[in-house]
Amino acid sequence: MTSPAGHVYLSRLLTDGAMARLHQLGRPLVIGEENPPTRAALEDGFAGACAAVVTLTERVDAELLACAGNGLQVVANVAVGYDNIDVAAASAAGVTVTNTPGVLDNATADHTFALVLAATRRVVDGDRFLRTRQPWIWGPRMFTGLDVSAGATLGILGFGRIGRAVARRAHAFDMTVLATSRHRTSGVDDGVRFVDTDTLLADSDVVCVLTPLTPQTRHLIDAAALARMKPTAYLVNTARGGVVDEAALVDALTAGHIAGAALDVFENEPHVNPALLDVPNLVLTPHIASAGAATRDAMGILAVDNVAAVLAGRPALTPVR
Ligand code: GLV
Repeated sequence: MTSPAGHVYLSRLLTDGAMARLHQLGRPLVIGEENPPTRAALEDGFAGACAAVVTLTERVDAELLACAGNGLQVVANVAVGYDNIDVAAASAAGVTVTNTPGVLDNATADHTFALVLAATRRVVDGDRFLRTRQPWIWGPRMFTGLDVSAGATLGILGFGRIGRAVARRAHAFDMTVLATSRHRTSGVDDGVRFVDTDTLLADSDVVCVLTPLTPQTRHLIDAAALARMKPTAYLVNTARGGVVDEAALVDALTAGHIAGAALDVFENEPHVNPALLDVPNLVLTPHIASAGAATRDAMGILAVDNVAAVLAGRPALTPVR
């Protein structure tokens, strides 16, 4: 197979390691900037490209794919989630779509667990309190939270690679681990008990949302799901904002239907629903769960390696199925 003509388009600057790998491709490059491209710049970048490396801030739809012309072979997403890409439209156009599974499991699980501990042990509340500069002294009732290591139950909604990595951390904290999976609804494997969603919501002290965003999982955590949780339970979302109905979460937190929550992802990123900012028992981070420096290098390098494979006529390393 002959190499396709055209440039490789990169929508946003990646980390140094990934940029170095991109330059090693030895292809003409069109490189975007630090910030996300405008739609017009994105369309310009796709026009005539043989490959595109994009991030989760770029919406790759049928119209954009059409801008590329016939030479586009691969769109490589620098993320494990790919709800920003119309995969059906890409397949119909004969374009391979790839993502970056595996390389971010530990970083994402670390951040998920950081949020579990931050929310349950009131790390951010304590930090905010000290910054008010008001006088304080140690007290037996001060900032008490959930003892995760005293037999608390952690529920993983969506047990994939990252869920498995979160389970390993939970086991190290002596937690009981429940999970939901598309592949099984009962039984125990490696200390993880598989249950249905309602059981997981009702029985967990901490619910971690790790399921991809699909039409089936949009607002999986709605008012009814939150009502099933214990009033002492916490919700942590490091998957995609759209899986949680933010308005329902604000209501549940305000009414004390659950004890607290932590969100790394938001329904309308980068917009953050202002009501979330006024809820005290909520920890927020700006979509940084995979932001270990080495992990971000590895994600970008895997995306570029996917491009290299496809342009050389080999199978993609991590195609989206
Ligand atoms: C980050 O959110 C990712 O999907 O990799």
